[in-house]
Amino acid sequence: MGELYIGLMSGTSLDGIDAVLAQFPQDGSEAAMQVLAHGHQAFAPALRDELLSLNRSGPDELHRSALAANGLARAYADLVAQLLDQSGHKPSQIRALGAHGQTVRHRPGEFDGIGYTCQLLNGALLAEQTGIAVVCDLRSRDVAAGGQGAPLVPAFHRARFGRTGLDLAVLNIGGISNISLLHADGRTLGHDCGPGNCLMDLWIREQQGRDFDADGAWAAGGTPHPGLLQAMLAEPFFGLPAPRSTGRDLFHREWLRAHLQAFPEATAQDVQATLLELSARCVSDGLQGLGVHELLVCGGGALNGRLMERLRALLPRSRVTSTDSQGLPVMQVEATAFAWLAMRFMRQLPGNLPAVTGAAGPRLLGALHPA
Ligand SMILES: Nc1ncnc2c1ncn2[C@@H]1O[C@H](COP(=O)(O)OP(=O)(O)OP(=O)(O)O)[C@@H](O)[C@H]1O
Ligand SMILES: [Mg+2]
Repeated sequence: MGELYIGLMSGTSLDGIDAVLAQFPQDGSEAAMQVLAHGHQAFAPALRDELLSLNRSGPDELHRSALAANGLARAYADLVAQLLDQSGHKPSQIRALGAHGQTVRHRPGEFDGIGYTCQLLNGALLAEQTGIAVVCDLRSRDVAAGGQGAPLVPAFHRARFGRTGLDLAVLNIGGISNISLLHADGRTLGHDCGPGNCLMDLWIREQQGRDFDADGAWAAGGTPHPGLLQAMLAEPFFGLPAPRSTGRDLFHREWLRAHLQAFPEATAQDVQATLLELSARCVSDGLQGLGVHELLVCGGGALNGRLMERLRALLPRSRVTSTDSQGLPVMQVEATAFAWLAMRFMRQLPGNLPAVTGAAGPRLLGALHPA
């Protein structure tokens, strides 16, 4: 028997919340972890719109952020209740929830040299409503130690997917994409790549009122505009060495608009094709020459057939598959990482990798609201 944890993730795509119930062996043999249940709940439109608008400065932000943090805690609590119901567990059987919260600002290292990262969530309310201990605010300690606070998942990717003797990479394509490099010699590196789904989602929503381009079908019917693609790839972020992380602070509507202005001849469908190509290139450009044998893709972008096709074409020397092939479905990986981080906190083990985030050292990540 192992210990049970629940991981709760709502990422930059703002599509909703993923939750997993995961079991971790007591003896620390982390590769033997198991996911017992998974649930997804889309955001109520009003909460989604408010969280999205809180990504930019606006009136009465403190008040609105506090209420959005309450709303998110209630939505997380509802999903936890569903998950327990579905799997037949009681709150007292769960050691802790690892809850990510909603990133509305991510500015590590800026302004005063430390900067900040802000994940909205009322952890106290979540503990109150679920009766389960909550570990949240998982990024701030790494930022306080001079790190990027992101990506945090490479340590989990190493524990779950790492294999000796093989250079592997795990690519999560959420709103933003991030990669973990699991080298055969045991080194684990990683960084944010750039826009995953966020710009594609934004454009199709604006043009067609759809949430996302299912399977990349609309993009597949267009042609990437070479000038527009080059202009976007010239974004200085893509040239930064690791450690690096990004978010909607950079890749937002105005960023896209500013680029589109210079290429008025690009059709809406060609813009979508260009954005998909950008999502593929900001990954493949960084992998050239690294000798990655296998690329395991997860996150919603792994369900975009056209994007997977482009990754395969751009990385002919790597076997490009999804984490499904390793027994962890693509939409469960990130939530499982946050269950894993809660486990690390409760066992008083560090959660970050200084080589990935740039923090001064390994740190216990998270703040605890007891059950
Ligand atoms: N069938 C599909 N075809 C194309 N894209 C899809 C499909 N299903 C999901 N997606 C994309 O995946 C996104 C959701 O992915 P995911 O939940 O991994 O992102 P996220 O919430 O930003 O996560 P995180 O920040 O944890 O990486 C959707 O917004 C959509 O763009
Ligand atoms: Mg999501």
